[in-house]
Amino acid sequence: MSQPIRRICVLTGGGDAPGLNPVLRALVKTALELDLEVFGAEDGFQGLIEPGRMIRLDRKSVRGILPKGGSILGCSNKANPFHYQTGPDTYEDVSAQVVHRLRDHDIDILVVVGGDGTMSMGSRFEPLGIPVIGVPKTIDNDLGATDWTFGFDTAVGTATWAIDALHSTAEAHDRVLVLEVMGRYAGWIALHAGIAGGADVILIPEIEYDIERIAKKIRQRSERGANFSIVVVGEGAKPIKGDTATLSAGMPGHLPRLGGAGARVAAELEGRVPHDVRVTVLGHIQRGGSPSNFDRVLGTRFGVKAAQLCRAGQSGTMVALRGTEVVAVSLESAIDEPKLVDPEGELVSVARSVGIELGA
Ligand code: F6P
Repeated sequence: MSQPIRRICVLTGGGDAPGLNPVLRALVKTALELDLEVFGAEDGFQGLIEPGRMIRLDRKSVRGILPKGGSILGCSNKANPFHYQTGPDTYEDVSAQVVHRLRDHDIDILVVVGGDGTMSMGSRFEPLGIPVIGVPKTIDNDLGATDWTFGFDTAVGTATWAIDALHSTAEAHDRVLVLEVMGRYAGWIALHAGIAGGADVILIPEIEYDIERIAKKIRQRSERGANFSIVVVGEGAKPIKGDTATLSAGMPGHLPRLGGAGARVAAELEGRVPHDVRVTVLGHIQRGGSPSNFDRVLGTRFGVKAAQLCRAGQSGTMVALRGTEVVAVSLESAIDEPKLVDPEGELVSVARSVGIELGA
């Protein structure tokens, strides 16, 4: 990029994840030190589509936000500028409006903080002449180009806390308690929290399950005197040759809403095991709350790196954690391949070694 970078704009797209505010704080503080002006667009791309929703960010704007969940800018997983709802049944490409608004504000680089959807929308602005830098976020931890996304650690902590809490009541009542956790395509939250919380069964989208194997494991536990079991179900888990459980189809151009995977497992277990079965759906609690120390540090590292990339004019890139280093990778690579749990990998093998049933 030849012209000097003076002004950047940041948005937080998609669903929120704990750690967004640490990213914004670090990005703004570092960018200001590097003599960059910073704007923020409210509610993801919505803030670039609607007028009057770009705000200037200064040190005061980011003071005290490090421990806060959510995003001071707000998030939206509905505002897709390339497929934007303009009426009850009408959708338009309003990307030219976004380009115009960014030019109008003299924005030299757009920083998009988000998951795969936000990254792919962001990358489509590059050929339209808007330089873009990405910061990866998702509690699902399923972006291929980075080893870790912020938000995941907090979500796993919350899910682990829930498993711990369920243990005592399961044991008191001789029950099977099913916990449904998030993870649309990838079972990382289920697997990490399940191992951390000592679950007896973990079901993930990457391994289709056989309900009879699960029932057998629970019956064996009962025979050995463990009269309760904890079953952790990733929301994308499905039975052999079955479908993902969905609540609704989702709006045109959007993903279906997942839900019901835990209830389905519970219904299938009723009658197969000598216990009452109950379900807890952890839901958006996993996305809320104060970010963990790890997510605060990772978010801060990502924010600092993104500001440095802006200063250096290195657009078309996304910050990523590779091993222990924060590096820049190509924005394209961010959306290439999702990072799924390897059914033959070390983590699954560890789970099996400690007696956890994975359903197949
Ligand atoms: O992708 C992150 C995620 O938390 C998924 O695990 C989950 O399926 C989805 O978002 C929920 O999205 P929404 O907030 O739109 O219900």
